[in-house]
Amino acid sequence: MRAAGRVVAEMHQAIRAAAAPGVTTGDLDLVARGVLDLRGAESNFFGYYGYPAVICASVNDEVIHGIPGSRVLEDGDLLSIDCGAIVDGWHGDAAFSMVVGTATDAQLRLISTAEAALAAAIRAMRPGNTLGDIGAAIEGVVSAAGYGSPHNYCGHGIGQDMHEDPDVENRGVPGRGPTLREGVVLAIEPMLIAGGRDDVRELSDGWTVVTTDGSLAAHVEHTVVVGAHGPEILTRL
Ligand code: MF3
Ligand code: CO
Repeated sequence: MRAAGRVVAEMHQAIRAAAAPGVTTGDLDLVARGVLDLRGAESNFFGYYGYPAVICASVNDEVIHGIPGSRVLEDGDLLSIDCGAIVDGWHGDAAFSMVVGTATDAQLRLISTAEAALAAAIRAMRPGNTLGDIGAAIEGVVSAAGYGSPHNYCGHGIGQDMHEDPDVENRGVPGRGPTLREGVVLAIEPMLIAGGRDDVRELSDGWTVVTTDGSLAAHVEHTVVVGAHGPEILTRL
């Protein structure tokens, strides 16, 4: 899984470097395909329930599952990229949020809170802690900042499939739920809604999930192992 995670991290790096005003989200999908080809890796997104691309590119009020295409990125767009890779049958999955061009303080605060929620969740990934500890860590950071998080989407176990048990909710009660054991691998993915609501809706394309209040969203994700001596992030260079 380390090899798959490294490919995902390289896809992120290449997309971050390519994302700029005037570039389309479809161009970013091509950049990601280039990294997959270079590394001889396969996409776990393409063809997943018919999904037509190797990345999700969600812009502004789009939370997750935006389909890349002819949309031209503009200065000030908040862009969330989610993508994955398969190497030797093992999966990696990760997401990041960034601002294209000039950012506002509000955008940067939303993104840094998402990153802080993910970091807090990862710190909770120790043998003997529970799934509830992870959810509570995310919820604590998100709600303290006044943001919302959709109820009907969550993180997941990952391994020889992209989505394995258990579901990893972005909320929880400390000490509740199954105990984490060494070697468990989870994809942790906080999704934040700037307006503070907890509901979203899906567009008629059957994929794109947008905030109900039209406010901005951020989405970050890492694939992480519960290691004997602490969590190990696989989708980071
Ligand atoms: N990466 C998403 C997740 O974190 C799944 C994307 S669905 C796809 O679970 F169809 F876009 F692949
Ligand atoms: Co995921």
